[in-house]
Formats: sequence, C-alpha cells, structure tokens
Amino acid sequence: MARFSDDFLSELRSRIDIEELVSSYVNLKKKGRISQGLCPFHTEKTPSFTVYNDTQSYYCFGCGAGGECITFIRNIENLDYYDAVQFLAEKVGLKMPIEQEDDGLYVLRKRIYEANREAARFFYNNLVKPDCPAYEYLIKRGIKPNTIKRFGLGYAPDSWDALTRHLRSLGFHDNELISAYLSKKSRTGSTIDVFMNRLMFPIIDLRGNVVAFGGRVLGDEKPKYINTSDTPVFKKGRGIFALNLAKAHGRSLILCEGYMDVIAMHQAGFETAIAGLGTAFTTEQAQLVARYADEVTLAYDSDEAGRNAAKRTLSIFQSCNVKTKVLNLTGGKDPDEIIKRFGKEYMQKIIDGSLSSTEFKLAQAREGINTETADGKVEFLRKAVDVLATVDDAIERDVYTTRLSIETEVSKTAIEEQIKRALGRRKKQQDTESFNKARQLLEGRVSSARNALKIHAQNVSIRARQAEETLIASLLHNPDLYKKLEDKINIDDFSSDIIKRLFIIISERIENQQELDLIFFANELNPDEMAVLTRFLQKSRTVSNTLEECLDCIKVMSEEKLKQSVKDPTELSNEEFMRLFYKKE
Ligand code: UTP
Ligand code: MN
Repeated sequence: MARFSDDFLSELRSRIDIEELVSSYVNLKKKGRISQGLCPFHTEKTPSFTVYNDTQSYYCFGCGAGGECITFIRNIENLDYYDAVQFLAEKVGLKMPIEQEDDGLYVLRKRIYEANREAARFFYNNLVKPDCPAYEYLIKRGIKPNTIKRFGLGYAPDSWDALTRHLRSLGFHDNELISAYLSKKSRTGSTIDVFMNRLMFPIIDLRGNVVAFGGRVLGDEKPKYINTSDTPVFKKGRGIFALNLAKAHGRSLILCEGYMDVIAMHQAGFETAIAGLGTAFTTEQAQLVARYADEVTLAYDSDEAGRNAAKRTLSIFQSCNVKTKVLNLTGGKDPDEIIKRFGKEYMQKIIDGSLSSTEFKLAQAREGINTETADGKVEFLRKAVDVLATVDDAIERDVYTTRLSIETEVSKTAIEEQIKRALGRRKKQQDTESFNKARQLLEGRVSSARNALKIHAQNVSIRARQAEETLIASLLHNPDLYKKLEDKINIDDFSSDIIKRLFIIISERIENQQELDLIFFANELNPDEMAVLTRFLQKSRTVSNTLEECLDCIKVMSEEKLKQSVKDPTELSNEEFMRLFYKKE
C-alpha cells in the first residue's frame, strides 16, 4: 500500500473541507457545528450521517461508516487508497509526491494505463491509414472524421500480434500486456493480440484514463463485440461509456444501449448520451450515473429485448434518486437508426415527448391486450394497478388513476381501492426487501470486518469494550496522558487484534510526537478499521478524558480479561453478532 508523508497529508488536509467535499455527494443540513444528511453507504429514511467540522470527520450512527476525507472518497468513488489520494489532490491542485516505485500493484496499474493509452493511439493511427476497412465502414455508417477523433475510435489490424509487437517495441513486457487484456497466450504459447480486425471503442474513465476497449467486427461474424474483461484498472460492471464527455453537457443524461447509438447521438448534437458496457446495467453503474444526473432518459432499442432491458434498468434506478424517463423510439430500432432515417429534428421530437417511466410501464402493461373487450379491460387494469402501486408520489398516482378511469370507463374509486390494496402488498414486500438488503449489507460488512474486528466477536463484556474505547478515545483527545499510562497498560488486555493494532499505531505516533488527526492514519488503516477509529474519536466527545478515568479503564480491562469466559465468536450467528454492536436505527 502506498504511503504518504505527514507533510503531504497535512497539506491535503489544509486544502480540503470535509463538509464541502461530502456536500457534492450528500444533501447536508447544517445543525450548529455539525451537518447531517442521509447516509450514502446504507439505505435510510432519517439522517444519521453526520459530518464534524472540528475533527474534519464523518460518522454514520446507522451503519457505522466513518473516517476522514480519503476514506470517504475510497468508499464513495470505489477507489483504492492511492487513487483516492490522487483524486483529492487533483481536486485541490496539489501535486502528488514522487511515487513509490516499490508498490507492485501501483506500478502495474500505471503500466496498464500507459499500455492502454499507447494501444488507443496505435488503433487510431491504423484507422486513419489509407484504405482502412474500419474507416470505410464508419464512413458508410455516416460517422464523420471529427466524431471519430472525438471518441478516439480505432482499428485493430487483421494480424495475430501487430499490437503486441508494437507495444513490446515501446518497452512493455508480455505479462503487462496480458494483465491489461490487450494480449493473450495462444495455444502454442506465444503472445498474441486479443483484438484482431475489429473496430475499436476506447472506454475512458472520468479522469481521462483509457481503462478498456470494446472491439466490434466489421461484418456479421460472431461474437459481434469483444470487450476487455476485468483487469487491475477496470471492472466491467462499473464503467460508463462516454460519461467523460457527457458530464460536461448537463445533468439530463440519455442512456443508450450501444456504443454506436451514443456516437450517432453525439454527432447529432445530443451530447449527453451515454451507454453501459454491454452487460446488464448494474447498481454500481446507476449510482455512478446518478452522481452526474438529475434525470436519466432511457433510449433503449425498441425491440422486445430492449424493452425488457429498459424495464430492468428502470428498477435499478428506482433507489437512486434520479428522475427516469423512457424514449418511445417509434419508427426505428435504435437511436442510431432513427437519426439516420429521420434526422435529428425527429429525434429531438421524440426526446421532447419522452414518456415518463410510469407511462412507459403502462404502455407495456397494455401491450398485446385488447382493451375494448371486458376481459381485456380487467387484464389490463390488474397490471396497471400493479404499476401505479410502484408510483411513490401521490399526486402523480392520482393523475394516472384519473386517466386510467377515463380510458377503461371503470370508476376511479374502484381503481383507487385496488391500488390501495396493491400498495399494502407492495409495502409489505418492500419492508421485507429492505430488511433483507440492510441485513445483507451489514452481514457483508460484518463478515469482512469479522476477522479484523474481533472485539465484537469475542462477545466481550460491554464493560470491557467501553473501557478500552474510552481509554483510546481519551488518548486521541489528550495524548499527554500517554506518558502517565504507558507502563500501566497491558497490551494483551485489549479485546481484539484490531484494537491492539490501533492502540500500537496511536501510541507510536504519540511517542514520535506526531499529530493524531484521522487523516494521518489513512496510510495504515483500511476503511473498516478507520470506521472503528472514528467511532473512538466520536466517543472522546462524551467522556471526560481525564487521567482518573483512564486508570479506571485500565483496571476494568484487566479485570474483565481475567473473568472472560468467552463464547467462541465463530459460534455466533451473524445476527447475534450484529446485535452486539449495531444500534438499530
Ligand atoms: P448492439 O448489438 O445494439 O450493438 O449491442 P451496437 O453497438 O448498437 O452496434 P450496431 O449498431 O449494431 O453496429 C449494444 C451493446 O451491447 C454490447 C456492446 O456494448 C454494444 O454496444 N454488446 C453487444 C457486447 O458487449 N457484445 C456483443 O456481442 C453484442
Ligand atoms: Mn444497436
């Protein structure tokens, strides 16, 4: 793991305001010296996510997430430690210190970014060579040279190893190229290209790194696309195509299915078009999009597969706090085809008349049913009622109920009655779902924290736990106490390895007369450990932080250690385990 000097971290600390940083992700309300909002790390209805200005830290009383700015970015942007620091440094215009060349993974990732960039350059140069078949293909599909450049499209030549040889000549090793998923081993053991004779779409992340490629055949062969699979710099279910370009053009994004759709849309002036990466849209992708959008309009293919995918994607966005709409792509299969056939003005009209997601679902419910007949009406109403029960906004629900009543000539009260029942059913189902989800989330967190955080697991008496927490909290608050306590603390009296480790790290810093701000611990603590430390820091607000109290704690710890007849933590069910230390919201 990369390490940064205290000087660098303290420079970073001085340039970042945690409240401001968190505000760009969470709607915070100021309450005196703290701010609160809904926790971005678990689902909740009342705010328990708290940001403290004085300690430049945050803590969620619901799920226990906590830390300083780096840990926050690690969690919310899904970055590792180094990247999170880099992310923040860039944000505040701070130059990164000279890199640690001994960090293997860091070096490999850097090499992969470089290899990808060189590969993209190589593909592009091949595309613009005279007589390139992929160039002709693009031009035939109406893509202009400017657009090609803007998206950095390219061509992987019809050769076994043209790219591999090129990148070798630039000093890349085969194992780097294989890690980057640019090359692979052939059956005979030689290193060959992954992409051959394909039109290449680079996938570029929000920091401008080429993280992956999609490669399309020029004809009808199968598979149509080959995509970079997971590498040290890329996870399939995470990236979004063209978000790097789209985010500069507003917060109303148009989500398409295909790369070609996005490219055609941008060329036609709809520069907020983006796409997933071919796999089914994931929650992670939705959350990423939601950070850059207030509204997402789905422009999925009009065939059945596209409509089903749209439905799935809509439900993924439901928990993301963005408005969703669906385009009614009549007259063509996908945005690319519609623009080509009818022009961009027509496309604009479709966008202006885009269906709300409720209208879309109602239209789907209506499909294939003859609503002129009584049976048809009943069948449609049944489905429609289920749809309306998913509408959270009462006014919106009322609007559609009225329409539905007019359309089917069934009384509005009767429909409302049915919706009420469906709502009841749905509420029950939702409660179970959200309970299960919260539980999964906790269990996930718990099981990862399980080994690290043996404190809780050991079913240590609350008394012992409070004592050690108070002791460490007091040290954080008042490091001068350490000198007077040092000899009295028996390291084995701490209830778990992680607490021991936290204590050792803290006491080392105190002995070296180094500052104890949370940020200085980021070098060594993973987010779970940082959350524990932050909890201690919280605690120091409520204890007296005096020598007497500390001495008392030390006494309690050793007493408790003695009489500890611990139930083996592995015998606890996850539920029991969770009950030990998670407060109910
Ligand atoms: P499409 O088949 O609609 O491709 O798949 P497209 O990009 O619109 O291409 P054209 O217009 O037919 O030339 C939509 C997306 O699904 C992924 C790609 O991301 C593609 O852009 N996909 C499709 C794959 O990953 N692999 C495949 O074999 C097919
Ligand atoms: Mn398509």
